[in-house]
Amino acid sequence: MTTAHESPASEAEISVHWREEDYYQPPAKFIAQANAADPDILGRFDEGHFPDCFKEYADLLSWDAYWHTTLDTSNPPFWRWFVGGRLNACYNCVDRHLATDRNKAALIWVPEPEDEPTRTITYQELYRQVNEFAALLRDFCGLRTGDRVTFHLPMVPELPVAMLACARLGVIHSEVFGGFSGAACGERIADSGSRILVTTDGYYRNGQLFDHKAKADEAVRTADGLGQQVDKVLVWRRHAGRCTSRTPMVDGRDFFVDELLAEHHRAVVEPVSMPAEAPLFLMYTSGTTARPKGCQHSTGGYLAYVAGTSKYYQDIHPEDTYWCCADIGWITGHSYIVYGPLALGTTSVIYEGAPTYPDAGRVWRIAERLGVNIFHTAPTTIRMLRKLGPREPDRYDYHLKHMTTVGEPIEPEVWRWYHDVAGKGEAVVVDTWWQTENGGFLGSTLPALQPMKPGSCGPGVLGVYPVIYDENGNIVEAGSGKAGNICIRNPWPGIFQTIWGQPERFVQIYYAKYCRNPASTDWRDWPYFAGDGAVQAADGYFRILGRVDDVINVAGHRLGTKELESASLTVHEVSEAAAVPVIDEIRGRAVEMYVALQPGTAPTEAIRQAVTGAIEREIGKIARPKNVWIVDDMPKTRSGKIMRRVIAGISNFSDVGDVSTLANPEIVDEIRHRIQSAKLAHGEVPRQLTREEAAEIRSFGRNE
Ligand code: WTA
Repeated sequence: MTTAHESPASEAEISVHWREEDYYQPPAKFIAQANAADPDILGRFDEGHFPDCFKEYADLLSWDAYWHTTLDTSNPPFWRWFVGGRLNACYNCVDRHLATDRNKAALIWVPEPEDEPTRTITYQELYRQVNEFAALLRDFCGLRTGDRVTFHLPMVPELPVAMLACARLGVIHSEVFGGFSGAACGERIADSGSRILVTTDGYYRNGQLFDHKAKADEAVRTADGLGQQVDKVLVWRRHAGRCTSRTPMVDGRDFFVDELLAEHHRAVVEPVSMPAEAPLFLMYTSGTTARPKGCQHSTGGYLAYVAGTSKYYQDIHPEDTYWCCADIGWITGHSYIVYGPLALGTTSVIYEGAPTYPDAGRVWRIAERLGVNIFHTAPTTIRMLRKLGPREPDRYDYHLKHMTTVGEPIEPEVWRWYHDVAGKGEAVVVDTWWQTENGGFLGSTLPALQPMKPGSCGPGVLGVYPVIYDENGNIVEAGSGKAGNICIRNPWPGIFQTIWGQPERFVQIYYAKYCRNPASTDWRDWPYFAGDGAVQAADGYFRILGRVDDVINVAGHRLGTKELESASLTVHEVSEAAAVPVIDEIRGRAVEMYVALQPGTAPTEAIRQAVTGAIEREIGKIARPKNVWIVDDMPKTRSGKIMRRVIAGISNFSDVGDVSTLANPEIVDEIRHRIQSAKLAHGEVPRQLTREEAAEIRSFGRNE
């Protein structure tokens, strides 16, 4: 069992040597209009001004009651921001823009089928829809402030409407990524204690209309099995008045939202004035154990943080047309499709489908047609667009001032394509490093003031002071060429408040490792452990190397090895399972599963398919392994732990390191020979890993 304070092997101190990339300067035209163009801002947010510097972010919001204490550290590490303040997040994202921008587009929704019309939702229209849905949640579902409600919604405008309706009531929303399975959704319903599930009948992705409602039935069953009853399932219909799901509506449980809304026509619900520290939403993420962590985000601190970072790092002005091509089912979408952009009163574009459907020009056609000037996406999408349409951007007349990359390390060559071809050399690029737990950006460049460097996210953002520690808590100096664990020395307003229902785990995972004194109420004694390996160059820029815990980042989705393994173990022939990452050209990392079978069981194709099926059922198609290998035995330590790093080395055709101390060293060559021959026979072309990739594989699972 892994514990955060156990000292893993010395491999944490990986020496990393890459060529220092050249800086890119922001275009003069960008600087001339930037929200943060005066270098004074860096001084205003330096450590000497902490924590009061964040008043500047809080003042972007409208408060019902102004706060008296910026940061309360009396119960570390349960930090409380803007104590005494009261506000409503929905009011801040919708109502307050009506006076000046009533008929401006708040959301522009682009359906995947290209012949279906784009839907523009003005602030006035959003206000109306949010109020009606809030009335439904309150009066029909009986939801009250502090209750939880789970959404399992894809990229439809009803998702932000539902989020804002909850925020209006002070109800805590918990959106589960639409691509997750019904079982994964059910588990999160049970963990959060939701009685209400909001879903849809279907949605389009890659030209296919998915039957999404079928997952709701499974979610309800799973939650029920875990002791949580779901009273009502609210079903939005993707096509007006027509249900495309084949699963029957369950009488008394399932309701079409459009039919219910008729009774709440023109309803107005007063926004509930919430304390700054009231939870706004939960967002589940993966970690070391199989149980997902419900990251609890606050109302005041979170909203202030996403508004501030949207303004200065995304450079959002109210008149921009901003498009974050990510999924609202992840933290990026919550912070930088919905809450941040709407708090600033801009126009936020939402696209339903796959970025390369029906062809590699789709994204650029949307950008041209809508006049998008800020674009935000993940390296996995950039790699795919580059591969499928390397010169496609040339064909479209769009002009971006600003582009963001988020979620995974970006290779410098891919970065350069993004900047030169996708951005036509006209846009500034920010690489933003952060996590579900963080609410908003942690490492990035202030676009008009700090030059870009491909492959590096940049220094800590305003008011965030990162540091790299080795396993013993010594600082790894900038420019030393050594990697270590990136931590944040101070609290910031966007930090999550706790893991829902698991406060001890919150302290243990994120703070125990480097806490200097558990009795101290001084924030300086409580560095936040991010779980990423990183290197800091002499100029202070960080290069993020990837997770140091048991998480595999597939196309920007965090998958826990334990979740993958426990899904595999639901196949009764399987006795042991190990998940490892393989370097993947498009998705960054892919998953390979190794399984050993119960004694006397013959390996069959059916078992391999059953493992894949179990993973899709328990987690979702996004977690589908690239390969499932059945092995006679796993490489193990003498105490019986599976050595994932050895298996990962085999899967990646890289060095497996020293195996002489294993309990069964002979198995390594046997597995290597068999698996690598099978891969070569399938046409896999091994490529030399970069030094950083090799270091990541070599240290995978080292916390065990
Ligand atoms: C990784 C996504 C390199 C990192 C917002 C982190 C990144 C995990 C970057 C969090 C980046 C995120 N460069 N790596 N710019 N951004 N990561 O919770 O390993 O889905 O810990 O949050 O993604 O993923 P999550």
